[in-house]
Amino acid sequence: MDRKSSLGFGAGDASTPDHFETLPSRCQDRESMCSPRKALLSPWLRFDRFETYERKGDMDLLILTGHTSGLGASLLHAGLERGWTVLGIARRQSGLERERFQECTLDLAETGDWESLLTERRATLDGPWRRVILINNAGRVEPTALLEEMSISELQISFQLNAIAPIRLMRWTLQAFAGPCMRFVNISSGAASKPYLGWTAYCSTKAALRMSSEVLAREMEAQGRDVRVLSYAPGVLDTAMQVTVRGLSTQTFPDFERFRQLHSQGQLIEPRLSANELLDRLDRSDIPYFSHCRYGESERS
Ligand SMILES: NC(=O)c1ccc[n+]([C@@H]2O[C@H](COP(=O)([O-])OP(=O)(O)OC[C@H]3O[C@@H](n4cnc5c(N)ncnc54)[C@H](OP(=O)(O)O)[C@@H]3O)[C@@H](O)[C@H]2O)c1
Repeated sequence: MDRKSSLGFGAGDASTPDHFETLPSRCQDRESMCSPRKALLSPWLRFDRFETYERKGDMDLLILTGHTSGLGASLLHAGLERGWTVLGIARRQSGLERERFQECTLDLAETGDWESLLTERRATLDGPWRRVILINNAGRVEPTALLEEMSISELQISFQLNAIAPIRLMRWTLQAFAGPCMRFVNISSGAASKPYLGWTAYCSTKAALRMSSEVLAREMEAQGRDVRVLSYAPGVLDTAMQVTVRGLSTQTFPDFERFRQLHSQGQLIEPRLSANELLDRLDRSDIPYFSHCRYGESERS
């Protein structure tokens, strides 16, 4: 049995909970649907597109990692305020009870097959969806140490959580919701492009995540699928992660002083502001296949 059918969502599987999966992915491209030149290319492609258009739902689903704290908690509230259904994924529970909210307790640094658990959970969500949004927000800054003193097992956990889990989740989402328009956000950081001493793990995992976002966006563009990928650096936020950063020592993290000053000068950004700015960007109709942007700045594709 191949992996898709073993997880119970293979193409044509009678148990699939919405109507999209048996349809070819290329028929989801809204731009092609509206382009007379592209529509003339093949009569059967036109037929597929018509069918898909009819079957699209009118609800948005947000799959959000790290919804229990900081930026994730603000994204959860902002998503619910917009009427989206939210599936939160983290190790803890938020304790929030809302009609359109479910949470899945999962350690995303685990290497085991947690996709099967998500597939089971997916079957309990309503659909069909107009739009599926995945925000890979969960992350950690540790381990902080100069490389020669760094624990390799801690480094591996960081790669699993900050880079591999988001890539696995993008892959799972593409497979599990093959039809509707999709928006993927990978929460980035200035550390994805700026080297900080002591932050081998954080800088290199965020850099890997940013590049994987761009590669996926190019693949989606080549296939003409309506999947857009945004790499979003939320700014220096007033969250638990910054408390961790301020607790570091100059021996393990020589750039510590800059973050301590931002805090003492009241320059940390409220996560609620960053969360709302991000969701506003997602609602734009002109979002490119790939863009990278930072809180308060215009995007670069
Ligand atoms: N804070 C900043 O200044 C800043 C700046 C730039 C970028 N960022 C990025 O913004 C994102 C959110 O950061 P934050 O400041 O909001 O951090 P935070 O307050 O520490 O929240 C981190 C979230 O990730 C979840 N998480 C951590 N380890 C996990 C695991 N193994 N499995 C599943 N979930 C896990 C946590 O939930 P549980 O503990 O319940 O698992 C929590 O909800 C991160 O990607 C971070 O790199 C932050």
